[in-house]
Amino acid sequence: MTKKVVVITGASSGIGEATAKKLAAAGNQLVLGARRESRLQEIVAAIEQAGGEAVYAVTDVTSSDSVKALAQKAVDTYGRIDVWMSNAGLMPQSELIQGRTEDWDQMIDVNIKGVLYGIAAALPIMRAQKSGQFINTASVAGHAVHPASSVYSATKYAVRAISEGLRQEEAIAGSNVRVTVVSPGMVATELTNHITDAATKDRLEHAWADNAISPEEIADSILFAVNLPENTSMNELVIRPTSQK
Ligand SMILES: NC(=O)c1ccc[n+]([C@@H]2O[C@H](COP(=O)([O-])OP(=O)(O)OC[C@H]3O[C@@H](n4cnc5c(N)ncnc54)[C@H](OP(=O)(O)O)[C@@H]3O)[C@@H](O)[C@H]2O)c1
Repeated sequence: MTKKVVVITGASSGIGEATAKKLAAAGNQLVLGARRESRLQEIVAAIEQAGGEAVYAVTDVTSSDSVKALAQKAVDTYGRIDVWMSNAGLMPQSELIQGRTEDWDQMIDVNIKGVLYGIAAALPIMRAQKSGQFINTASVAGHAVHPASSVYSATKYAVRAISEGLRQEEAIAGSNVRVTVVSPGMVATELTNHITDAATKDRLEHAWADNAISPEEIADSILFAVNLPENTSMNELVIRPTSQK
């Protein structure tokens, strides 16, 4: 297998952390971005202790300069970017009547703008290389809307729309850039910790406790999509607990 340079945002916990560890164990070079530096340091140390290679840059995906600096860290350290995974995200769900505009702003800034800033930072590099892969984390909530999920779902539908546009544009350009959307169902991570509406938090935490699968299951599928031959693109992955309705 060829060693790839893989950048992951939201790498300090959950799906990002599990994917970073899995891809590093498979021999790839990892560049990790998130805001919590101590968590990133621990994950890099764990990867290195297991014989892998990783570096990090403290990154806030709501700042395009910060995302550009993460891309620069990858180029400065390893000379290229083969895979860019825009995975940072949050899910403070609530009903629209509550008017939680701060939560809406945060979801739009992290879940949508974070993905766009990743494309702005990494696509020119991939075009120049004539190869690369974007992996954008959406959700099953980007395939269906439920009460309280309107804004979160809107951000994840947006991730799918942006990714499909990117896929078509790069196919026409003949850039050899692949696009993969990962849409997980309930996965046991820190995602429900940040729900601000108590009733929704309680409801979703119970649903997660009853159903969630581990983030390693998502990481396995991502590794599979990364390892496909360059001329083959796995564009959509929907992975949910068998028990999830
Ligand atoms: N868990 C699920 O059931 C599930 C289902 C469907 C989709 N997803 C999606 O999966 C992705 C990963 O979430 P997760 O479940 O692994 O939850 P998580 O454990 O809470 O991880 C979220 C990650 O996003 C990072 N993040 C948040 N805001 C950020 C910002 N402004 N800049 C940079 N990084 C930021 C966090 O790091 P810092 O706090 O250190 O910055 C953390 O590493 C999200 O896009 C989520 O919507 C999850």
